[in-house]
Amino acid sequence: MSISHPRKRAVRRSVALGFAALVALGSLAACSDPNEGEGGDSGGGDSATIALLLPESKTTRYETFDRPLFEDKVAELCSECEVTYFNADQDEAKQSEQVDSAITQGADVVVLDPVNGAGAGGMVTAAQDADIPVIAYDRFIEGVDYYMSFDNETVGQLQGQALVDAMGDKGSILMLNGAPSDPNAAQFKAGAHSVLDGSGVKILEEYDNPDWSPENAQKFVTDQMSKYKPADIQGVYAANDGQAGGAVAALTGAGFQADALPPITGQDAELAAIQRIVAGQQAMTIYKPIKIEAETAAEVAVKLAQGDEVGDTSDTGVDQTEYEGVASFIFDPIVVTTDNIADTVIADGFYSADEICTDEYADACGAAGIS
Ligand code: GAL
Repeated sequence: MSISHPRKRAVRRSVALGFAALVALGSLAACSDPNEGEGGDSGGGDSATIALLLPESKTTRYETFDRPLFEDKVAELCSECEVTYFNADQDEAKQSEQVDSAITQGADVVVLDPVNGAGAGGMVTAAQDADIPVIAYDRFIEGVDYYMSFDNETVGQLQGQALVDAMGDKGSILMLNGAPSDPNAAQFKAGAHSVLDGSGVKILEEYDNPDWSPENAQKFVTDQMSKYKPADIQGVYAANDGQAGGAVAALTGAGFQADALPPITGQDAELAAIQRIVAGQQAMTIYKPIKIEAETAAEVAVKLAQGDEVGDTSDTGVDQTEYEGVASFIFDPIVVTTDNIADTVIADGFYSADEICTDEYADACGAAGIS
């Protein structure tokens, strides 16, 4: 894929400026080496500014994992690079202003996780018009230079299959999907439907949660309880852990015992969800090893900023592919149940056993063999 590299453009700009200065001063002595300073193209230490824009902070992953993992990897790869960070708090207009600020502040690369994938085209164009390449991070945006994410349709399939299995392929459920503005949400939903629709499980009601919030999820489930009998809720498809938490609050609020909840799905391997899984209050979550995603994004961003070629295989060993015509890196999601907590999130250092097994969960951890 051919893409115009900002560092090389900076070199060209500095050569042109250097020539103008030379003419003005009328002296060869004024000629500076174009490979020095701002336009330098000399490798690992090259200074560059990389803007990271994340969509919200209600889901724990962004501030707890994506941001620090990305910043640490950029620092490791390029000691002179600076990361400017923005969180849009689920506000599209705010994110658009943040992209404009990133451009004004001299970003060499924009790494953008859009609040609204379909509505972010103008932000991409604004950056590219300023010769700044854009990486769509986790959520797809048309026309970007690179994209990286997990296989989102598979996420939905894995959730749907886990729920069908936990319910013995029978019974009725509520379905809590993600925000319609998030392109991933549509993929999770399609993947889940591809399993649920052909199964023996019946969907009573379905809800597209506008901001993924646990509060909306709790209210939706609570509202359904006045329409259906609690006993009719035999499972809950929750597209993410935040909503799973909202569903648990609604169900226990309506009289379900915490240790006798119907199977509930999730995603993101949030700490609270892992603890609920240990305690038998949530059937599963999807663990996305965010380290691979954040580090690949950092690697590609640094290469673009320094004018280097992005290789066919990332440093994390993932092959480049194409998604909707965009050069992409797509990672595999992992189902987590009590059986593999130790082999997944603990083995990866995502959480320690101590973080999971607080006093409240010590007995459950003991029973599940997690220590
Ligand atoms: C998605 C993201 C998920 C999750 C969700 C909200 O875009 O892929 O991992 O963060 O937003 O939970």
